Amino acid sequence: MSENIIFCYSGTGNCLDMAKNIARELGDTDIVMMRTTPTVTDARAAKRVGFIFPCYAGGLPRGVEESMNAIETDPISYKFAVAQCSAYPGTGLSIANDIFHLDYWQVVTHQCSCIWLFPHTMMIPPLSAAGAQERSEREAKRIGQEIKAMKRSEKAPKANPLNKAESSAWPALSKKKAKSFAVSSLCISCGTCARVCPKGNIRLIDGKPQFGTDCLQCLACLQYCPQEAISLGRITQKREHYHNPNITVDELIKPVIHID
Ligand SMILES: Cc1cc2nc3c(=O)[nH]c(=O)nc-3n(C[C@H](O)[C@H](O)[C@H](O)COP(=O)(O)O)c2cc1C
Repeated sequence: MSENIIFCYSGTGNCLDMAKNIARELGDTDIVMMRTTPTVTDARAAKRVGFIFPCYAGGLPRGVEESMNAIETDPISYKFAVAQCSAYPGTGLSIANDIFHLDYWQVVTHQCSCIWLFPHTMMIPPLSAAGAQERSEREAKRIGQEIKAMKRSEKAPKANPLNKAESSAWPALSKKKAKSFAVSSLCISCGTCARVCPKGNIRLIDGKPQFGTDCLQCLACLQYCPQEAISLGRITQKREHYHNPNITVDELIKPVIHID
């Protein structure tokens, strides 16, 4: 077991990029992915235990809270969490705090991967794509150094009741929205969409993706498609696509990444 362990969910790479950059500051860190059921849940030997996740519709991506509840930690280990979002962090930090009693937490705004809602550069404060990535890397360095020094946050994170309502409405909306996935003739049957789907919601039939409705709306399928052949309503055909520039498909789907 490494000295540090970070449990991470990432749909389009921002949170994994943040986790890797923080791990570089800490050294000797395992990043355990929570896109599917984590392959490691025993973190009792770790000195620092972290959680890095995005805000999805005011809450956590479906399944992340269940994954967190299955993780065992040493009560005296240092616990931290970082939420990424385009505008507001939602309830994720307070959920993590209820489960783990966080010593330290931070929010970092980054590009919005849900491009049927907003263009990816829509974030607070507004920044260009390159500017947002630069800021994220700068923030990761600062946050990583603070975690290494085991800094403590003064206040506990708070949940906003509006965000709670938003996140409870999201699963039904996601299911309905998933019926609008379409694939164009640009598809080259590479299967990337099926590989990156955290829910196994995409089946290839005669090499072409067929979409079910067990969808988180992470849009990894659409954003990582090398041909931009996948759409979710007309607006996604017009908007610039986005995934974190540093995170490849192979990395995103690894269950555990070790950083020395
Ligand atoms: C399905 C979905 C819902 C989102 N909902 C919110 C939200 O409610 N508030 C917000 O500020 N950002 C929201 N975002 C933006 C993400 O939190 C942001 O893009 C994050 O950096 C994505 O991290 P990832 O690349 O690791 O998946 C949403 C993104 C997606 C895909």
